[in-house]
Amino acid sequence: MKELQIHPHVQDQLKEVLEFYREIGVEFLEVQADDPGLLMNEIHNEIKQCTKCHLHKTKLHYVPGEGYLSPDIFFIGEGPGETEDRFGRPFIGKAGQLLDKVLKKMGYDREQVFIGNIIKCRPPNNRNPLKDEVDACLPYLKRQIEVLNPKVLVCLGKVALENLLGGQYSISRVRGQRFEFNGVPVIPTFHPSYILRQRLLSEISKVKWNVWEDMQKVLSIVKEASSS
Ligand code: URA
Repeated sequence: MKELQIHPHVQDQLKEVLEFYREIGVEFLEVQADDPGLLMNEIHNEIKQCTKCHLHKTKLHYVPGEGYLSPDIFFIGEGPGETEDRFGRPFIGKAGQLLDKVLKKMGYDREQVFIGNIIKCRPPNNRNPLKDEVDACLPYLKRQIEVLNPKVLVCLGKVALENLLGGQYSISRVRGQRFEFNGVPVIPTFHPSYILRQRLLSEISKVKWNVWEDMQKVLSIVKEASSS
């Protein structure tokens, strides 16, 4: 039998739920040790108490990630920005609004996918995450991927791709190509902030079109995985 390790905070919540069931006359409950909800709860509670790097001192809120627990697609960004830090939720600022639009075009709401980041605390002034910060935080993302077991991972931008796969990449060269992480297909594309930074209309349309092409690949992987 698999031993289930539950964080003390989750134990309290579980106790309340079990007491409620007992009150309404339920005597037996079958709990699966590999239930994604329980496992993600555990990971997110650990994140919310993390002191493994110094970013926990300057952040306002931890941003563990959010979404559907059995998703087709897991979108991975770089790290929380100012708005995300303020509210503890990923991709809810300007870049997030653009991501929502892309999702809608793909036929998804944000609640139907999972959205997370390489690091869970905002780096000061939105600088790129440092190696020690990524080293401390990446195990959380790896556990999230293992529990969620998505059909495809989408790396939004170079920072997400390089830190997930290791190595160096030119995002404009490798976008839309299929990589793999622990057996899960990975499609890199431009970060939504990159689209927002473009000034020329022609560039904006070009980059948006590129992202749309990449998302077609993502959708074809989902379709292929769903039919096999
Ligand atoms: N940019 C990211 O990479 N992640 C967020 O959550 C928000 C903006």
